[in-house]
Amino acid sequence: MAKYEQLANDLKTRIDQGVWQGGDKLPSLRQTASNYGLSLMTVMNAYQLLESQGAITAVEKSGYFVAPDRETLSYPQHHDKMYLSDNTDINDFVFSVLQSSKQPSIIPFGSGFPDPTLFPQQAISRSLAKAAQKLSPTFAADNLPPGNLGLRKAISQRYAKVGLSVSPDEILITSGAMESLNLSLELLTKEGDYVVIESPAFYGALQAIERLKLKAIAIATDPQTGMDLDALEEVLANYPVKACWLMTRYQNPLGCSMSREGQERLYQLVKSYNVSLIEDDVYQELYERDKGGVPVKYFDEDGRVLHCSSFSKSLIAGYRVGWVAAGKYAVELQKLQLMSTLSTSAPMQLAIADFIQSVKYERHLKNLRKQLSERKEAMYQLLRSKLPGTVKVNYTTGGYFLWLELPVEVDATKLYFQAIEKGVSLAPGNLFSAEQQYNHYIRLNASYPCTKEIEVAIDTLRHLILTNAEKR
Ligand SMILES: Cc1ncc(COP(=O)(O)O)c(C=O)c1O
Repeated sequence: MAKYEQLANDLKTRIDQGVWQGGDKLPSLRQTASNYGLSLMTVMNAYQLLESQGAITAVEKSGYFVAPDRETLSYPQHHDKMYLSDNTDINDFVFSVLQSSKQPSIIPFGSGFPDPTLFPQQAISRSLAKAAQKLSPTFAADNLPPGNLGLRKAISQRYAKVGLSVSPDEILITSGAMESLNLSLELLTKEGDYVVIESPAFYGALQAIERLKLKAIAIATDPQTGMDLDALEEVLANYPVKACWLMTRYQNPLGCSMSREGQERLYQLVKSYNVSLIEDDVYQELYERDKGGVPVKYFDEDGRVLHCSSFSKSLIAGYRVGWVAAGKYAVELQKLQLMSTLSTSAPMQLAIADFIQSVKYERHLKNLRKQLSERKEAMYQLLRSKLPGTVKVNYTTGGYFLWLELPVEVDATKLYFQAIEKGVSLAPGNLFSAEQQYNHYIRLNASYPCTKEIEVAIDTLRHLILTNAEKR
């Protein structure tokens, strides 16, 4: 172990022992260097390591502080390790929830998208205008599957930045991640096949399973550490699973991320049971601090991972541009797209290609990550100060969702309809499960600034939660 790692371990042990507590200032770099007889560089590396682990935070011009104490949840003990659903029936519920949250006056705690004011809409409009002016007479044909070459190259270069070698030929441009995920599932399965998902899972996976008449096996997913890989192994050993549809980073709705070791084990499991992995990684750019780790695709040796993502959460919602790095399935997937939606809108592909190749994209991402991380922290503190102690708030780093456990007496679906009546949306837990296991959980969108209106909306939630808890 390097000296800086030893120092980081030592400091972490002291934090765990309570020598310094949440919010306390750590000794300065110089002081620690002199206390331990180490160089400034070693101490700096140790502090940066602790910062990347979320144990401490750097405050500009003030030094390093122990990260505030935050609450975490674990997978509910009374829930099973896996749930098998022969018949998923969620679409009507998802539709009604999404429809009723649409009015612009609603406080959008239930929204799946970040605060749109964080997106560089004007600059992208300029990219779109530029792209439209430059369209060649053959633009429609030029941008048929697999999609615009410039855009595929730019995406391929972004993979290279985090150490992945993904050829532009492997990439298919789609109408958002939703199309890449749906096409991938459709390609890999036929009616009645088994598909592994998380419990709770993104409702889009449940909808796709319903549409394709597949059988879902939902596996326990811890709100901090991600899917239970022992349970996954047991399922893969006992069922002829065709595909897994999973998120290992900033999972929706939990917000959790799996460790790198976990991701590698996951890959080895799907490989040894010869199962394909659809990796949903739409929040990949929304990490905190310096680095966001790697997707499972990083470990892919034989092209069985279909890595799906989009620009909807990191650049602009509504342009509907996403992609899949489809490994060995790339050509088959192009054919499937050609016979379903034909292609992604060419001007939109060109506009996004123009923007992400400019320095503006990196600048925007840096700002977006900072804003989201600060807003989530502020929202967490606000929820903690306003909601009753019987409500637990799961804090994770990255993304912009907070997963809340309500008192068992509170029916989250009923709470959802009551809150909508009062102008506040939320995502009730049962949106994320075919088996109605999360009836006293909700997901909140923490990407908005804590304005007076947001405070009032949280007061409304507090009031509704308390009255529902009393009524039972
Ligand atoms: C986990 C997850 N996957 C996929 C999508 C769909 O992304 P897109 O808007 O790019 O189709 C969403 C959007 O809410 C999501 O939350």
